[in-house]
Amino acid sequence: MATKQSVSRRGFLGGAAASLGYLGINPTPLRAERSRAWRGSAFLEQESDEYDAMAKLNFNENPYGPSEPVLEAMTMAFKYSMRYGYPDGGVLSAIAEHHGVPQENVMLGAGSGEILEVVGLTYLEHGKKVVGVEPSYGAVYRHASGIDAEAITLPLMDDYRQSIPALIDATKKHYRDVGFVYLCNPNNPTGRTVSAAEVQQLLDGIPEDVPVLIDEAYHHFVEDPEYATSIPHVLEGRPVIVTRTFSKLFGMAAMRLGFAIATPEIIEKMRPYSTGSINALVKWGAVAALQDTEAQERVRRVTLELRKQTAAELESMGYGVIPSETNFFMMHTGRHVREVQQDFRARGVRVGRAFPPMLNHLRVSIGTEDEMRRFMVAFKDIFPARTTAGSTRG
Ligand SMILES: Cc1ncc(COP(=O)(O)O)c(C=O)c1O
Repeated sequence: MATKQSVSRRGFLGGAAASLGYLGINPTPLRAERSRAWRGSAFLEQESDEYDAMAKLNFNENPYGPSEPVLEAMTMAFKYSMRYGYPDGGVLSAIAEHHGVPQENVMLGAGSGEILEVVGLTYLEHGKKVVGVEPSYGAVYRHASGIDAEAITLPLMDDYRQSIPALIDATKKHYRDVGFVYLCNPNNPTGRTVSAAEVQQLLDGIPEDVPVLIDEAYHHFVEDPEYATSIPHVLEGRPVIVTRTFSKLFGMAAMRLGFAIATPEIIEKMRPYSTGSINALVKWGAVAALQDTEAQERVRRVTLELRKQTAAELESMGYGVIPSETNFFMMHTGRHVREVQQDFRARGVRVGRAFPPMLNHLRVSIGTEDEMRRFMVAFKDIFPARTTAGSTRG
């Protein structure tokens, strides 16, 4: 497999900036622009009525939000909103116990996004690079370019899975320059998993001191029996950082809580880069959310059912859907995703953005039953039914 070295800002700034990056020249003003543009895009000022009315299938959120016991716990915690030092419900020990690790192995972040940035700040000093596939959760590569680091990105395989031999080769080849390896499992935006055996193969195949960041944001939705969490590798003492979030299954994206599980040495190395600024409400909410296994199971079941139903309907119309293990899926539409996004938006449905180089694929998050119905109505209006069987390629 061809290994391409690129700065991940390519999609954002276009070919010219990418060429400069390729030559090792960092276009600083453009980088700042990129950073502002990106942060702004997620938090655009917008009319709340318009926002509320849209079917929101663009950010892989949980459309049901926190369960009743979680809302109660957060409401109770309002009484601490004017405090700094307040009881936090034992959130750190609750997370540690839930995952079978000591507390020293856990670090909280304002969303797992903060942890991903902290890993970058910790391990990408002095021109170090992150190795990973593209497309993947691009924030990791964007953050790297924002701090003058680069990404060595590898293409996905034909079945949209991540090639472990290619990741091993690239890491070995650039060993001295590699700050860490990024493995999103399951991968966003494709929804495909890396098996437990492949994770083992990766860890055994790269030099043992190279840290591996394993992003398990969508862990809870996986059904594939070959997949397993990588937390046991942390307990073996490997330089593995597993990240998780309360934004997906637990429905608290706007409350901002995620965490890392890593060895105490790695946690201590990363700690100076973390803000440690977690709000009181989400700390109490998270403890209640971990206990509410009934709500977790309900969200998981409905989400997976709706994903399978929607995918089957699209396939029956002749459109190829990439098999997913998450609360979203990717399909081949044969049209540039930017135009497709606009067509959906005009029909009150927000769908996923472009994920270069998969520009003719569309990522669709699983919303409520009503949102998925609205998606299908809009889809049938925009795309004709085909007579040929669906392919995930053009
Ligand atoms: C793979 C992956 N990792 C991390 C995140 C960040 O999530 P959060 O910062 O809300 O925990 C996301 C968000 O969509 C994601 O898809």
